[in-house]
This record gives sequence, C-alpha cells and structure tokens, in this order.
Amino acid sequence: MVERGRQAFAPCSTCHAVSPGEMSGLGPNLHGVYGRQAGSEEGFAYSPELASSGIVWRKGALDDFIASPSRTVQGTSMIYAGEPDPAVREAIIAYLQSLQ
Ligand code: HEC
Repeated sequence: MVERGRQAFAPCSTCHAVSPGEMSGLGPNLHGVYGRQAGSEEGFAYSPELASSGIVWRKGALDDFIASPSRTVQGTSMIYAGEPDPAVREAIIAYLQSLQ
C-alpha cells in the first residue's frame, strides 16, 4: 500500500518535497503532514483560506482534499484537479502517513 502510494505520489512530487528539511517547491514540505494542523509548515506562504481552515490532516480530511482541493478549501492555492480514484487516494494517504 505504502509503495503503491509512493508511486501514485509522483504527480504531487513536482510541487511537494517529502524529506525532512528539504526545500519546498511550489507546495509545502509534506514530511510529517499526517496529524499536523493545516498550514503549519514553518516559512511556507499558505493561502489565508488553508491557513485558517482549522483542518487537521487525518484520513477523512486528506481524502476530501486530494479528491478536490478547491472544493474542500475554497480559495486554496493548490492547483491540482483532484484524484478521482478512492483506492489511489487511500494509497497516497498511507504513503503520507508513513512520512514520520
Ligand atoms: C501544482 C503544485 C501542486 C501539486 C501538483 C500538488 N500540490 Fe499539494 N499543495 C500545493 C500548494 C501550493 C499547497 C498550499 C495550498 C494553500 O496554501 O492553500 C499545497 C498543500 C497541500 C497539503 C496541505 C499541507 C499543509 O501543510 O497544510 C497537502 C496535504 C497536499 N498539498 C497534498 C498533495 C498531494 C497528495 C498531491 C498529489 C495528489 C498534491 N498535493 C499535489 C501545491 C501542489
């Protein structure tokens, strides 16, 4: 599952670094994102909408956000259409959870 998620993460990795301390690209570094408060990566310029969303990144919230970022957080600066396949989202979430 985690390995499948790592592969499915390929399109995300154009914007997101995942190694601790690695410079973020267009998006925030996602190391340790699971269980973290939305918008809390130090030094990253989040949209006010995401920063004030009050979301904590667990399964349900991640599933909604990856399915449709702009519907889950209106005004988000994450320009990504969304992953329609629930099984692929589940694998990506398992991968994110492994990045601790
Ligand atoms: C085109 C660049 C881009 C792509 C592709 C992208 N993201 Fe993002 N992502 C962003 C940006 C920018 C933000 C910050 C959004 C904001 O502040 O509203 C973000 C935010 C996030 C967050 C919230 C992080 C936090 O610290 O609160 C998660 C989780 C996330 N992305 C996961 C993913 C996943 C999983 C994929 C692939 C399915 C993906 N992203 C694809 C640019 C991208």
